[in-house]
Amino acid sequence: MRDYLLLYVNGQRHQISGERCFQSLSDYLRIELGLVGTKVVCAEGDCGSCTVLIGRVRNGELKYEGIDSCIQYLYQLDCTHVITIEGLKHENRVHPVQQAMVDAMGSQCGYCTPGFVMSLAAMLETKEALTRLSVQDGLTGNLCRCTGYEQIIEAALSLSKPVAGSAANQPASKRYNKKALIADFNAHASQSVFCEYLEKWNGASNKVRFFVPRTLQEAVEFKQKQRNVTVVAGGTDISVQMNKEHIEPKCVMSLTNLDELDFIELKKQKVKVGAGVTWTKLGEFCQQHLPQLSEIISLFASRQIRNAGTLAGNIANASPIADSLPFLHVIEAEIELSGTKSSRWVNINRFYHGYKNTEMTPDELITSIRWNLPEPEGVLKLYKVSKRKDLDISTFTAGILLKLKNGKINKARLAYGGVGPVVLRLPKTERYMQGKPVTATIFQQAGSMASEEISPISDVRASTDYRSQLAENIMMKFFHECFDNQTKKEAA
Ligand SMILES: Cc1cc2nc3c(=O)[nH]c(=O)nc-3n(C[C@H](O)[C@H](O)[C@H](O)COP(=O)(O)OP(=O)(O)OC[C@H]3O[C@@H](n4cnc5c(N)ncnc54)[C@H](O)[C@@H]3O)c2cc1C
Ligand code: FES
Ligand code: FES
Repeated sequence: MRDYLLLYVNGQRHQISGERCFQSLSDYLRIELGLVGTKVVCAEGDCGSCTVLIGRVRNGELKYEGIDSCIQYLYQLDCTHVITIEGLKHENRVHPVQQAMVDAMGSQCGYCTPGFVMSLAAMLETKEALTRLSVQDGLTGNLCRCTGYEQIIEAALSLSKPVAGSAANQPASKRYNKKALIADFNAHASQSVFCEYLEKWNGASNKVRFFVPRTLQEAVEFKQKQRNVTVVAGGTDISVQMNKEHIEPKCVMSLTNLDELDFIELKKQKVKVGAGVTWTKLGEFCQQHLPQLSEIISLFASRQIRNAGTLAGNIANASPIADSLPFLHVIEAEIELSGTKSSRWVNINRFYHGYKNTEMTPDELITSIRWNLPEPEGVLKLYKVSKRKDLDISTFTAGILLKLKNGKINKARLAYGGVGPVVLRLPKTERYMQGKPVTATIFQQAGSMASEEISPISDVRASTDYRSQLAENIMMKFFHECFDNQTKKEAA
């Protein structure tokens, strides 16, 4: 067990202990190390100006991804290498991405610029082809209010053209001695980290502590002993609450170093996803095996958030507009809850007892999620309705899964989000659809039944009426998208 975090920043080694471990990475970079090129604007993962590259050892190699440093706390970053905008410079020359931004006039006030540069640098790390589409996707998590995006996109596209004698497409991480970093991380990899300090404020003092377990057993034992522990996975929900709602947990456990939870398994059409799997990794898997979920993941937040956030965090956070939930409800996914002595599987349809109230007991952790892939005769569609297409919170979500037999609906599973305190299955409408033919009339009737089965509220995102209308219309949208051609063919 160690009492310090090991972190490299731009190739420099840092051992961090005590109170300093409880800072966000952006504060640590700016305040402690004076690396003020990383900017903080929103402090909630929305604008990307704080983007840095974070390298973690995966399968024996350092893999770098762009991550928002304002919502990564240091206790999530043990055994990582952080590259900031200052770390891109090499032999006193700016990085080709920086030069391209200058040449294309991709910066005015410059506050957003380091984030854009780091997101483009992240694309070079994975050797992604730089096309207009890929660049737009790679920059979804970066906002600029001055320059206009066209010059920034031009800068990015200029990097796809090889320049004689220039290392334009060289990943920034190439300039660091990765072998030495990996050796240092490996030498520390088996140790968990526990830090504690006495917080003194206004005459009172409090013990503040965090734990970074290396094994699941250590994690569940810690959770059992420290019932008020705040569990942090990717931190994309909880760290926003810390920054914005000034929640200051006195005891934190970070799951980021639990390799045991970082797996995706596919056996006999059964998928099992470890609780440590990020949205990025799940998205890659779904591209091949579950295109409907892959589509929703491509609309989920931004790359910086998907590189950190997890499916398990989305489930445990228990928001009725969490994007994974309609899918998990209609596919009848099961959640593995593990304690010190045993683990159990709970169907997601029985996991939520009310708003932010779940089946998980204080000593349990979500350790994995499993489901069966849809059967060949199944028709699955997932919907996310939001004010903006990209990087927006859902107003309404839906999952519709039908099993067809002899041209009729053999089984219907419907789940709506954003229409109640939890994601709702619609049993009455499901029963109505069973055995019915696939016609526009049936779907119209199902839509109006569905809107009667829910009681949405009005809030900042939408009114009750709008949500009810969506609940009705989505059934016709589903019908037209999946069956309209077939109906037209039959009628012809
Ligand atoms: C800018 C931005 C955009 C976003 N966009 C979307 C979006 O489009 N769609 C969407 O659905 N969400 C979105 N989110 C929310 C968030 O990214 C997701 O909910 C994400 O999946 C949370 O995962 P995490 O690992 O970061 O969770 P964390 O923040 O680490 O944790 C969330 C909660 O789950 C608990 N928890 C985490 N892991 C476990 C575990 N294994 N066992 C028990 N409890 C656990 C934590 O204690 C905490 O209460 C967005 C967030 C931000 C900041
Ligand atoms: S400061 Fe806006 S995402 Fe971090
Ligand atoms: S250059 Fe000013 S916000 Fe982008």
